[in-house]
Amino acid sequence: MKRYLNFVKGNWIFALLSAVFVLVVVYLEIELPLITAKIIDDIIPNIESMGNLAELRHQILLMLVYSFAILLLGFLAARCAAIASLGFTANMRIAIFNKVQDFSFDNIDKFTTASLITRIINDTNSVQMVFSTFLNFFIKAPLTLIFACIEARRISAELSKVFWFVIPIIVAVFMIMAVIVVPKFRIMLEKTDKFNKTLQENFLGIRVVKSFVRENKEKDKFNEANNGLYHATMAAQKIMMLNLPILMLVLFGCMIYTLWNGSIQIYDFAGQEGALEIGTLTAFTSYISSVITSLMTFTMIFITMVMARASIKRVNEVLDEKPSVTDENADKSLKVTDGSIEFRNVSFKYSSEAEKNVLENINISIKSGEIVGVIGATGSAKTTLVSLIPRLYEATGGEVLVSGRNVKDYTFENLREGVSMVLQNNVLFSGTIKENLLWGNRGASDEMIEEACKIAQAHEFISEFADGYETKLEQGGVNVSGGQKQRLCIARALLRAPKVLIFDDSTSAVDTATDTKIRDGLASYLPDTTKIIIAQRINSVKHADKIIILDDGKIVGVGTHDELLENSEIYKEIYISQQKGALAQ
Ligand SMILES: Nc1ncnc2c1ncn2[C@@H]1O[C@H](COP(=O)(O)OP(=O)(O)OP(=O)(O)O)[C@@H](O)[C@H]1O
Ligand SMILES: [Mg+2]
Repeated sequence: MKRYLNFVKGNWIFALLSAVFVLVVVYLEIELPLITAKIIDDIIPNIESMGNLAELRHQILLMLVYSFAILLLGFLAARCAAIASLGFTANMRIAIFNKVQDFSFDNIDKFTTASLITRIINDTNSVQMVFSTFLNFFIKAPLTLIFACIEARRISAELSKVFWFVIPIIVAVFMIMAVIVVPKFRIMLEKTDKFNKTLQENFLGIRVVKSFVRENKEKDKFNEANNGLYHATMAAQKIMMLNLPILMLVLFGCMIYTLWNGSIQIYDFAGQEGALEIGTLTAFTSYISSVITSLMTFTMIFITMVMARASIKRVNEVLDEKPSVTDENADKSLKVTDGSIEFRNVSFKYSSEAEKNVLENINISIKSGEIVGVIGATGSAKTTLVSLIPRLYEATGGEVLVSGRNVKDYTFENLREGVSMVLQNNVLFSGTIKENLLWGNRGASDEMIEEACKIAQAHEFISEFADGYETKLEQGGVNVSGGQKQRLCIARALLRAPKVLIFDDSTSAVDTATDTKIRDGLASYLPDTTKIIIAQRINSVKHADKIIILDDGKIVGVGTHDELLENSEIYKEIYISQQKGALAQ
């Protein structure tokens, strides 16, 4: 609750103004029927005398003023409520977005990207609905209900007995409806979730869908989700549709009862002191509709709240999530000064429930400036191993040290300034090539950019684009080839001039000749920087100072190419099979 009050920050004044305007509107709406009553009962019967004509004009004018004031203030109240609730939602979205920025890979894996998107778009909208309904009606409905009841009672205690029946009946009907409808709404929300998931998964992976010619299967999947949502919504709406007719029935029933009884009273007690008059009866019927509409508003508030409850829960889940890796206890002044790396008895698993460790008892020592190759079958935990160095994931056992200090001692900023990683599934962002490269180093000069691109073998193809470095990249870099994208990502990482550079299979889409050129360039570029190269091809790491062989999360060999050829059966096997493959080509 406190969290949500915080989101109103900066918009309190509008929320309050809206409440004040609503108060005045309620007052005016209660007053209006009394003027009608006065005109009908006091002025019209005595219209002959000129004085009363003036009085009639006066009262009509008053009604006009009241009506315009209701219109204007109603508009202002709604406007202020809209400003407050839109501001509220904007703040909530910022809070979620900022929270997600603090998430480690672990947290993101847990929620999944699709679900985070649904939460920040759909769920915040539902919460906004509650907030704006609250602002618009939460004050208005009870006040109208109370004042209308009071006024009605003042007019006729006898007639207002009808409320003793009506209010409990309406409340009972709504309670029954709520009991039936709430579970149906819950199902509807689950189906909405499923629908969003299907949609997002498809759109995010549309290229894969097409390349596997899965369109028809995906259409079926979408149809199923869409139908599910349709039927679930229908089931909930079917009951909600009864809402209005039931209210109308009650309203007309009340009106008929009141008019009948009222007319009898007017007839029976005509001329007596304090007897009911026609105008007062008219005013009374207005209060009946006020009471019933405010009761209807209560149901509306109730239903938006039920609908939003699931959303509030989902928003809270994100906001309550503790980033699994934080740098709160880091030493802010500590910087990565050299590229030495050490793994001491490191073990790791992705989820605490998993039985088996993904990395088991890893001990490595890498000197600053070394070139280290990492090879191993797919799934042998190469990516996992290097992810622990920039602390994308946290080691579950043992210690990872960079330049002699535990990675936990550095702030994320300082650690990742010193350790740059070209991810296996890297992305570029929409913007120009140059803008993307500047992610590596904001202050890089054109010469520096060109140099890094030359090493990464990207300069040549960039120069061939009509706009060169100013070429616009579409979202995710879809308008460059896979190999070109990889080379841009390498250049981006080089520009950082870090102490440790990690390439996770970063030249997998690059031809062997270019791969060799990149490797040769890297050997002399940033000579003090430790370079860790994960590769499928032994040729890519053959010249490394040290090669680490991983098998099923364990190190099964460390050494230079020649040493490993002599000592490691696995290495020899891979090498021979790759040589054979190369010869066969
Ligand atoms: N985010 C994740 N959540 C849970 N398990 C994961 C995650 N990423 C990888 N794994 C699991 O950890 C193991 C090691 O994966 P990893 O990506 O490190 O292998 P890899 O050697 O890099 O493989 P490749 O050569 O295919 O890139 C695999 O069994 C994989 O299923
Ligand atoms: Mg990998």
